[in-house]
Order: sequence, then structure tokens, then C-alpha cells
Amino acid sequence: MRIFAGLFLLALASTAVFAQTPADFLAGYSQEAKQANPGHGEPSAQRGQRFFTALHGQEWSCASCHTRNPAAAGKHAVTGKLIEPLAPAANAARFSRTAKVEKWFKRNCNDVLGRTCTAQEKGDVLAYLLTLK
Ligand code: HEC
Repeated sequence: MRIFAGLFLLALASTAVFAQTPADFLAGYSQEAKQANPGHGEPSAQRGQRFFTALHGQEWSCASCHTRNPAAAGKHAVTGKLIEPLAPAANAARFSRTAKVEKWFKRNCNDVLGRTCTAQEKGDVLAYLLTLK
């Protein structure tokens, strides 16, 4: 039994570092947010939707490029280039690679908020995206 418990913990630990499914990312952000703020609740899809469509003191919202329906294709606000749907239900490649997810969260949050997103904000956005079919 001990070895199974050990393997289970090992699997959990590697999930945190190499998250590969949207559910893994969601669990990771939720855990990170709770560590940063022990009073923090679960990720909220409703808060995520508001965050996604609101302006945050800059020229763009997330919806400026990903549209108000991220289950459909978007269009880059500057270049006009097509952006594949962001919702995992509409695009299986989304939230499957840590390097890609973190690279674009960093770049996009910087454009929209003038700073990086917190773990809570990322968790909220992902919870929202996961409600879209
Ligand atoms: C100026 C246009 C633009 C804005 C504004 C924008 N994005 Fe993006 N986003 C992109 C582009 C371009 C990509 C990368 C191309 C692709 O993967 O289709 C991308 C990719 C992503 C990804 C990568 C997901 C994956 O696994 O492939 C995430 C997450 C993301 N954006 C979230 C956001 C969030 C959250 C906001 C608001 C804070 C936002 N984006 C605002 C253009 C934008």
C-alpha cells in the first residue's frame, strides 16, 4: 500500500509542475491562489466572465481579441489575424501545455492590465472558459 500512496503523491506533484489538462491547470491556480490568500474561495466562472469582458485601465479587454464568445474564433485587435477559440470545449489544444499557457497569460495580461495576472484571476478565467460549450 505504501508504495501506491507514494506513487499517487508523485503523480500529484508532477501534475502541479507539468499540468496537461484544463482541470489540472484549474486545480493548480486554485491551490496557488489559496496559498497566496488563505481566505480565498474556489475559482468563480462569474467573476471570470466579468474579468474577461471588462477593461482594466488600458485600451483592450480579453474580449477585444478573443471576443465575448471565446467558444468561437477571435481576431487579433491589431493585426486582424484569426485566433482559434479559447474555450477548451471548442479547441482541444487549449490549456494542454504549460509553457504556452503561461507565455500567453503573461503577454496578454500585460497588454490588458499592465501587469501579470494573479493565480486567482487565471483560475477565474479558466473556470469561465470551462462553462462554455
Ligand atoms: C491583443 C490581442 C489579445 C488580447 C487582448 C488577449 N489575447 Fe489571449 N491570445 C492572443 C493571441 C494572439 C494568442 C496566441 C495565439 C493562439 O494561441 O491562438 C493568445 C493566447 C491566449 C492563451 C493561450 C491558451 C492556450 O493554451 O493556447 C490564453 C490563456 C489567453 N490568450 C488568455 C487571455 C486573457 C486571459 C486575456 C485578457 C487578460 C487575453 N488573452 C487577451 C491574443 C490576445
